[in-house]
Amino acid sequence: MIKLEQASFTYKSKQALEDINIHIKEGESIAIIGPNGSGKSTFLKLLNGIISPSEGKYIFDGTEINENKLKDNKFLKLFHKRVGFVFQNSDTQLFCSTVFEEIAFGPIQMGLREDEINKRVNDCLKMLNIEKIKDEHPYNLSGGEKKRVAIASVLALNPEILTLDEPMSGIDPKGKRFLRDLLIALNKSGKTIICATHDFQYVDGMFERAIVFSENHKIIRDDKYCNIIEDEEFLKEYNII
Ligand SMILES: Nc1ncnc2c1ncn2[C@@H]1O[C@H](COP(=O)(O)OP(=O)(O)O)[C@@H](O)[C@H]1O
Ligand SMILES: [Mg+2]
Repeated sequence: MIKLEQASFTYKSKQALEDINIHIKEGESIAIIGPNGSGKSTFLKLLNGIISPSEGKYIFDGTEINENKLKDNKFLKLFHKRVGFVFQNSDTQLFCSTVFEEIAFGPIQMGLREDEINKRVNDCLKMLNIEKIKDEHPYNLSGGEKKRVAIASVLALNPEILTLDEPMSGIDPKGKRFLRDLLIALNKSGKTIICATHDFQYVDGMFERAIVFSENHKIIRDDKYCNIIEDEEFLKEYNII
């Protein structure tokens, strides 16, 4: 479903991804691992069409995602319905005046009927266990609550692929375990999960595969998650633990 072919990305003059070749199939659960600055966030932005490759290709379900395609609003609307992105910093994602409105925003943009919108919002409130805070202003919530609202607002679009940038950061242990169980359940229900993480303690059983980026912005390993996480020597050599 997702294919990157010799894809690179450069911010002005700063290389952030180099020669990325990858194939992701429907239903996978993938950890994106690597030291700070290795390109994990840039990789997720590329998958989400926030940026397009400076060189090489990104092919999503047979369609090449390039600068032109990302100007096509009709395409973008469909694309964003299929690929959801939970940002690392929830504050950049939350902008409505109540939690309910925040979660309803996507479905409203999609032009769904009011009863369908209400159903989706209520389902997501329940799924994330945030019914009690539905009338609160997102700005006043704790980091963990904000993260739940951000995830609910993405799930309200019912995307096939869910990408998350370090969702466990700044969340307490209970919140991390909740998130882990939720992501496992979503993957079991058929969603593809692609998640940048370095919180190895809390992600047991979440990932089948891991893609590892190195300090020079290349993929150095693409393997079963358990093989990588058990390979302490490798993780130390590449500055991951
Ligand atoms: N907006 C930006 N402008 C310039 N350079 C950036 C920008 N965002 C990231 N970079 C650089 O790109 C590289 C990869 O960054 P990033 O994808 O954020 O890595 P990670 O998420 O693995 O920490 C780093 O060297 C970083 O400094
Ligand atoms: Mg990052």
